[in-house]
Amino acid sequence: MWGGRFSDKPSDIMQAINVSIGFDKHMAEQDVRGSKAHADMLAMGGIITDTDNAAIQQGLDDVLGEIRAGTFPYRDEFEDIHLNIEARLSEFIGETAGRLHTARSRNDQVATDFRLWVRDQLDGFDESIAHLQRALLGQAKSHTDTLMPGFTHLQVAQPVTFGHHMLAYVEMFGRDRSRFTDCRRRMNESPLGAAALAGTPYPIDRDMTSSALGFDAPMANSLDAVSARDFALEALSCASICATHLSRLAEEIVIWTSTQFAFVSLSDKFTTGSSIMPQKRNPDAAELVRAKVGRISGALVSLTMVMKGLPLAYSKDMQEDKEPVFEAFAALSLALAAMAGMAADLTPNKANMAKAAGSAFSTATDLADWLVRELGLPFRQAHHATGEIVALAERQGKALHELSLADMQSVKPQIHDGVYDVLSAENSVASRTSYGGTAPVNVKVQAGIWRKRLAD
Ligand code: ARG
Repeated sequence: MWGGRFSDKPSDIMQAINVSIGFDKHMAEQDVRGSKAHADMLAMGGIITDTDNAAIQQGLDDVLGEIRAGTFPYRDEFEDIHLNIEARLSEFIGETAGRLHTARSRNDQVATDFRLWVRDQLDGFDESIAHLQRALLGQAKSHTDTLMPGFTHLQVAQPVTFGHHMLAYVEMFGRDRSRFTDCRRRMNESPLGAAALAGTPYPIDRDMTSSALGFDAPMANSLDAVSARDFALEALSCASICATHLSRLAEEIVIWTSTQFAFVSLSDKFTTGSSIMPQKRNPDAAELVRAKVGRISGALVSLTMVMKGLPLAYSKDMQEDKEPVFEAFAALSLALAAMAGMAADLTPNKANMAKAAGSAFSTATDLADWLVRELGLPFRQAHHATGEIVALAERQGKALHELSLADMQSVKPQIHDGVYDVLSAENSVASRTSYGGTAPVNVKVQAGIWRKRLAD
C-alpha cells in the first residue's frame, strides 16, 4: 500500500509485530458497513462517480458474502482487516477499488469499525442481562415467602426470604444494564471523516455517514475522533462491574450448594462429577463464572495501561486496544449465559433454608425491638438485655423460643409471654414491611414491578 515511498520489504519480525488480521478480522462486517456508507457519501458529494460507487457497492457486497460464508481469504501480508478488504475488493473490481480510500484514513476507519463493533455488543449485553434477570425473577416469584437466613460477615444475621435475595440481584443487574445504556449513548458518535487526524479538503458530508451508520452525530474534533478510546474503556468498566456482580452470585451458589449449607441444588446440567471421587457433584459453572471477572477486569487494566500517556493523535499502540475488549466481551457473554442457565436450574431446599433461618439466634433483633415496643426501653438497653438472654440460651443449648418465660424474666422481669410471637423466622420476615424490606408482601409487589419492566 505504501510501495511508492519504500523499496525494501519489511523484515519478518516487523511483519510479526505489526500484523493484526488474526484478531481484527472480527470487525470485518463493521468494516464493510463503514466502507459502503463512505462510498455512498463520496458519490453523493460528486467526489467519486455513481458508476464507480455502483462497482464499489457490488464489490463490497461480494466481499461481505465471502465473510459470511467463511470463505474470505484473510492474509497476513495485508496486515489488518482494512487492507485485507481493500485488497480483496480490488481483486473483484480492479483499480476502481483504489477510489474508496479517498477522504479517509485507516485511523478514522478503525475508530469507526471498533465503535460499531462495541455498540453491537452492548446491544447484545442488554438482552442477555435481561434474560438473566428474567431467570432470577422466576425464582423470586416462586419463593416470595421461602425463608432463608440473611447474612452479614457470612454469619447468620436476620431471616430474609429467598425471593428478596433473588431480587437484590435483579436490581444490581438492572443497574448494569443502565450503565451499558449510558455508555452506548455517550459513544454513539461517528469518527468517520476525521481522516488521518486533521480532517480533509474534500467536500464530504459527515452527517450523512454518521446517520447511515446509526450514529447520533459526527464527532466534533478530528484529533479526538481518531485518538479517543474512552468508549472502549467505559464499556470494559461496565463489563467489569457486571462481572463483579456475577462473581458474587456465583460465589453464593458455590456456598449454597456445599453439603454444609445445602440451601440449593443444581441439576446434572450445571454440575460435574469427579474422576476419582464417585460421590462428588461440583458447581464448576458457578466457579468459572466467579473466575471470569479476572479476565474482564484484567482487560480494563490492560487497555488503560495502553492508553495512558499516549500523545494525540493516532499511535500504533492503539492497535492493542482490540484483543482485551474481544476477550473480555466473549467472557462476559458466556458468563451471563451460564448464570442465566444456573439461575433457572437451581432448586432451593426449603426445609434446610428455613431451619437455618431460625438458627443462631437470628431473631434476637426482633426480641430487642419487642422490648423497645412493649416495655418502652431505649434501644441500647434493649440490645444489652437481649444480649444477656442470648448468652443464657447459649449456656442452656437452646434457641430463643425454647427459653422458659422464667428464664427471660430473670433478665427483665417485665417480659410477658407475648414475646414468643416475635421469635419465629416467619414472623420476623413478615414484620419487615418497611419500603425495601424483606416481608413477603413487599417481595410480591417488587416481583410484580419487575415482571412488568422485564416484559418489554
Ligand atoms: N490496524 C490498525 C489499528 O488497529 C489500523 C490503523 C492503522 N493506522 C496507521 N496509521 N497505521 O490500529
